Amino acid sequence: MCGIVAYVGSKQARPLLIEGLKRMEYRGYDSAGLAVLNGKLEVCRAVGRVAMLEEKLEDAPGFEGTLGLAHTRWATHGGVTEANAHPHRDDKVGIALVHNGIIENYAVLKTYLKEKGHQFHSETDTEVLAMLIGELYEGDLEHAVQAALREVTGAYAIAVICEREPDTLVCARKGSPLMVGIGAGEYVVASDPSAIVSHTTQAFPLDDYNVVKITRTGFRSSTVENVSVTPKIMQLEMDLEQIDLGRFQHFMQKEIFEQPAALRNTLRGRLQRTEGKVVLGGLSAYAKELVRARRIVLAGQGTALHAAMIGEYMLEDLAKVPAVAEYASEFRYRNPIIEDGTVVIAVSQSGETADTLAALNEAKDRGALALGVINVVGSTIARETDAGVYLRVGPEVGVASTKAFTGQVAVLALITLFMARRRFMSTEASTRLIDEMLAVPDKIERICEQDTHIRDVTAKYCDRENWLFLGRGYNYPTALEGALKLKEISYIHAEGMPAAEMKHGPIALINEGMPAVFIANKGRQYEKVMSNIAEVRARGGHVIAVATEGDTEIKKQVEDVIYVPDVAEQLSPMLTVVPLQLMAYHAAVIRGHDVDKPRNLAKSVTVE
Ligand code: M6R
Repeated sequence: MCGIVAYVGSKQARPLLIEGLKRMEYRGYDSAGLAVLNGKLEVCRAVGRVAMLEEKLEDAPGFEGTLGLAHTRWATHGGVTEANAHPHRDDKVGIALVHNGIIENYAVLKTYLKEKGHQFHSETDTEVLAMLIGELYEGDLEHAVQAALREVTGAYAIAVICEREPDTLVCARKGSPLMVGIGAGEYVVASDPSAIVSHTTQAFPLDDYNVVKITRTGFRSSTVENVSVTPKIMQLEMDLEQIDLGRFQHFMQKEIFEQPAALRNTLRGRLQRTEGKVVLGGLSAYAKELVRARRIVLAGQGTALHAAMIGEYMLEDLAKVPAVAEYASEFRYRNPIIEDGTVVIAVSQSGETADTLAALNEAKDRGALALGVINVVGSTIARETDAGVYLRVGPEVGVASTKAFTGQVAVLALITLFMARRRFMSTEASTRLIDEMLAVPDKIERICEQDTHIRDVTAKYCDRENWLFLGRGYNYPTALEGALKLKEISYIHAEGMPAAEMKHGPIALINEGMPAVFIANKGRQYEKVMSNIAEVRARGGHVIAVATEGDTEIKKQVEDVIYVPDVAEQLSPMLTVVPLQLMAYHAAVIRGHDVDKPRNLAKSVTVE
């Protein structure tokens, strides 16, 4: 979603801010802007890509200064226009502000400010906050920001500068991430560590309701009530190479091919095969609670929810504990029952998804043990949980989530074994599954080797506007994930569902040549899936089957086959999803879409 970067130090701010915006481009946005303090405020904004802003700046004199802030906007309040792009200003005092989040009571504040004589130039909630800070300014920017934020409800990460204080940058956060990078005599503030790591790896995240005043010589952290706080400084682990494309054309492609290495990392040091044990440092203090757990709720959105659904199946099937996967957004608002012994697992790549965070907090308030399955270390959800297990798959830049999905399924399998082995599972059974897990990365490598074949199969169908994805059991969530991937980046309408559900209505959609992707690997429901395939073909649908190596019979029953190696059924989604990721990728490329910047989408959805 929106991105913030701000700088105070001795270097020219403008190139640095542009570089930061570019690093955050993957997050999704529709307009960009920048302000530099050079005696007076100089502001430039543009609709479209950061490159458009750069172009505009080339023709603009000035913009020299060592204090500035910049923003990429993903529209919420007001359309995609230059007037609505950030920074927003208060001209009475000379304030420029960038903001991520939503000011919920902006309408009432706007009425108040209009009565005070302020004139608005945009439809945004952000401009209201800029004006409110200006209205409350009495010679101290930090205090004006604190006072304004005491009046505000909603979510925000903000950076603010003021013509009257040419040495000061003030930032604050509630519900939307923001981090201060500490360099030598300089500070880079950003909503995403990718905009910080090329300057420094020392940083601290702001906590909710915290405000930080930064000058070239130091910083002061406080709450909105002006109580001093000591931030926890940490080492950023992101390596710049990890967020470069290398030999690949797109981040999504790179991340699909990275899955074997990423999963080796996820599993490294966590499996003791001879004892059939799983070692999860983050959970060891809660082993007893997990063994005694009476119910597990897994909450997530999008791809993370699909992984959570597989977690639900594994937990019930292997650890024999009642489990349910839910949309975090629904769980949060449906007055859920949390009984004694309930464990909630928040599943999220970014650790910043607003709905997932809200669900987690709701569950915590109702007494649940709160665990996280998160990729981004030190993210908000990771910090809010009682304990958790990191994915360790490295930064995921592509908006379409790929390696995080397989990482989430792997970690949920680890948690399942952690519990199962302590509850009912024998050493032998556990060791068998551990061996299966250890073999997954090599097997994914074998699937990736079929990239050309998968592209050719996709090319045959990618002019069709409606696709079905069908699977059963563990691969019903995989079908949902395949459909989501195709929708997100190729803009083809796709529906995923349990294969059996097709007969209850969706079968009416099938006409001559409609592509139906079946996950038809060997497993408990293989025969049933084959019957569903026959039903589709009888109505003229064209079937692309993801099948198990060695299944030569299926070739006679379908139009196209993509083979995956055999694997324990519980772990099969980590393999069967890979052809679906590659199909979505190739469909988008063939149709000429920008794979890493799909329209309307943001990498992490930080508003509810
Ligand atoms: O960062 P999270 O895992 O919490 O994100 C959840 C969803 O927004 C995310 O998986 C989304 O559905 C992806 N774009 C899917 O590719």
